Amino acid sequence: METGVATDYSDASAQNRLSDGVVSLREIAPGDAEFLYQVRMDPLSRPMFRNVELVPYESHERMVRKYFETRSGDRWFLIEAGGKAVGTISLYGFEDEGRRCEWGRFVIAPEWRKSGLGRRALRLLLDYARSVGVERAHCEVLAGNTAAQRLYQEAGFVQTGESDYHGRTFLELSCDL
Ligand SMILES: CC(C)(COP(=O)(O)OP(=O)(O)OC[C@H]1O[C@@H](n2cnc3c(N)ncnc32)[C@H](O)[C@@H]1OP(=O)(O)O)[C@@H](O)C(=O)NCCC(=O)NCCS
Repeated sequence: METGVATDYSDASAQNRLSDGVVSLREIAPGDAEFLYQVRMDPLSRPMFRNVELVPYESHERMVRKYFETRSGDRWFLIEAGGKAVGTISLYGFEDEGRRCEWGRFVIAPEWRKSGLGRRALRLLLDYARSVGVERAHCEVLAGNTAAQRLYQEAGFVQTGESDYHGRTFLELSCDL
């Protein structure tokens, strides 16, 4: 789907913000920790990930702090629409001199789902990945998570494998960018 609005990469380097005119991605800030916790720990989101446990807020805060302290090259974004935080998405695990990476930690808050925001956010993330030299991206999705699976297939991801994690099957998907 065309948005008709060019993605603004100049902003990405200056202020870590990408936008298609409806949805923006900006790098998370320490003050986003509470929102990130709420969306990830939401009972409708948690079962979709490898770690389904309710993590104590302090552990989550430590993870956010570590993101800023280590500066590992990962990019963790807040998804915003209409000036509000609506979700989160990340690029990480860069390999092969930045030509390959994984993406994930993808959640749209339940009240904002099914209005096309996830599709827009994913498109912005993949455009950004391409702009920084990523040639192939991969992700995983819990078998049976049809919402995510359909969205990823539509974006060009195809199944390249699967793995078992404590009795649950995760599909591995990849896409040339
Ligand atoms: C997956 C997720 C991020 C999608 O976000 P979203 O904003 O609701 O998605 P969109 O509205 O952009 O939907 C785009 C497409 O995804 C698919 N989709 C979205 N929700 C769906 C649902 N409940 N059932 C089936 N397909 C769905 C459809 O193909 C949809 O296209 P359509 O609107 O033309 O039918 C969101 O459902 C979510 O946060 N889920 C919980 C966490 C999660 O599963 N994260 C991914 C882990 S791999």
